[in-house]
Amino acid sequence: MMELVSYLGYLLATCLFIFGLKRLGSPNTARQGNIISACGMFIGVFSTFIQTGFGGFQLIFLGMVVGAVIGVLAAKLVAMTAMPEMVALLNGFGGGSSLLVAFGAYLVAPQIGVVTASITVVSIIIGGLTLTGSIVAWAKLAGTLPTRPFSFFGQQVLNALILIGLVVAIVMFSMDAVSHISLLYAVITVALVLGVLSVMAIGGGDMPVVIALLNSYSGIAAAAAGSVIGNVLLIVAGLLVGASGLILTSIMCKAMNRSLANVLFGGFGSVSSSSQSDKDQGEVNPITADDAYFVLEAARSVVIVPGYGMAVAQAQHSVRELGDILEEHGVNVRYAIHPVAGRMPGHMNVLLAESNVPYEQLYEMDDINPIIDNVDVCLVIGANDVVNPDALEDEASPIYGMPIIEVSRSQTVFVMKRSMNPGFAGIQNPLFFKDNTRMLFGDAKESLQALIGEFKE
Ligand code: TAP
Repeated sequence: MMELVSYLGYLLATCLFIFGLKRLGSPNTARQGNIISACGMFIGVFSTFIQTGFGGFQLIFLGMVVGAVIGVLAAKLVAMTAMPEMVALLNGFGGGSSLLVAFGAYLVAPQIGVVTASITVVSIIIGGLTLTGSIVAWAKLAGTLPTRPFSFFGQQVLNALILIGLVVAIVMFSMDAVSHISLLYAVITVALVLGVLSVMAIGGGDMPVVIALLNSYSGIAAAAAGSVIGNVLLIVAGLLVGASGLILTSIMCKAMNRSLANVLFGGFGSVSSSSQSDKDQGEVNPITADDAYFVLEAARSVVIVPGYGMAVAQAQHSVRELGDILEEHGVNVRYAIHPVAGRMPGHMNVLLAESNVPYEQLYEMDDINPIIDNVDVCLVIGANDVVNPDALEDEASPIYGMPIIEVSRSQTVFVMKRSMNPGFAGIQNPLFFKDNTRMLFGDAKESLQALIGEFKE
């Protein structure tokens, strides 16, 4: 009877996960989707207790309280700009938990058959490399590690040897799990090292794909761990994360016009010596807010292109205010969103939704580029890599081939940023030196407020 109740609980939790995921599809319903999924998780945990009995409840409860306190504090204290790093870390923790669950299950009952043994070791490998890979991704996003790819002579060969070694270890362990505990320790160590090596080798521009892929890995590792301990809900939840992560990976690959193999094993995003990036590009043309005001006031159509700098400056509300003022002056205002702008998928959409920018004013890159020649002013707010023409023109550039928002085709471009520092990919941007570009230097929020002040006067 208790088992039936617990399976019904799992079924309900699964439905809530799927329904919650669906609601996460739009910024308008995402908050609701989160709450629905959290309710599903609560029901799932409770149903597991019903199934397994409440033995060891105190310890588990203590773990849940400690975890909940850390989770609430992290959610409250971590700055909005540090959210992408936090998401990367959470992926890693998911991988680490799967590693521990599968390893713990083996330690408790090492007498396992071939299938369970192979799933155990696969879960441990994927979980381990997700853990350390995500920590490296976190460090790259936080700027603790340089975003440029780290590679050394023979790296691809070493990675290939490691992979072959892991396949051999999977076979050996699956044949005789009981007597291969030391092999399992070696596998754990190698998986942790592989996570570091593979993500260190990937360049700044390709990080969106890596983060989506690590997210998917964490789900696959969880599904495998669920299969090891025979927990249906963990399998379902893991597969949902794994599948949605794979879909996201494919969207990110398309957005960057890269194949997955190319990201993982290709040019590693390294800057070629023949790249234009570091060459002398001439002088930039700075502009002040009051001069920019006159151009904007005379404009009939303006496209606002936000990037990571808008998130840093927390300028989304000022962006909306300026957009509204321009509309009051009869200007046609549109917002163009690049799929990898910011530091996490949907970053710009979330910020603009927070400041209630009307959804119908948001344009995807593919919709704005065909009409950008007729735009009077493109207002680039803290975006850099996603508007870098080298992606189209310089074959040696690490971001070559990535589609961009082609702002330089509009009549005038205003770029708001604080300095000539590069963006995430670490490369210079020839857009800033073009004849129709004017640089409005300063913090994006302050520059926007200065422009708003001009309009109000
Ligand atoms: P970036 O190329 O990173 O450029 C951001 C720009 O914002 C910088 O050049 C910076 O210049 C400026 N900035 C920073 N703080 C500012 C402030 N307070 N006021 C005004 N400007 C400020 O951003 P992007 O164009 O959005 O491109 C995203 C990059 O991140 C891509 O390379 C992408 O591949 C990578 N990435 C994306 C993701 C996802 S999933 N979206 C994940 C990982 C990596 P100053 O310092 O001179 O101000």
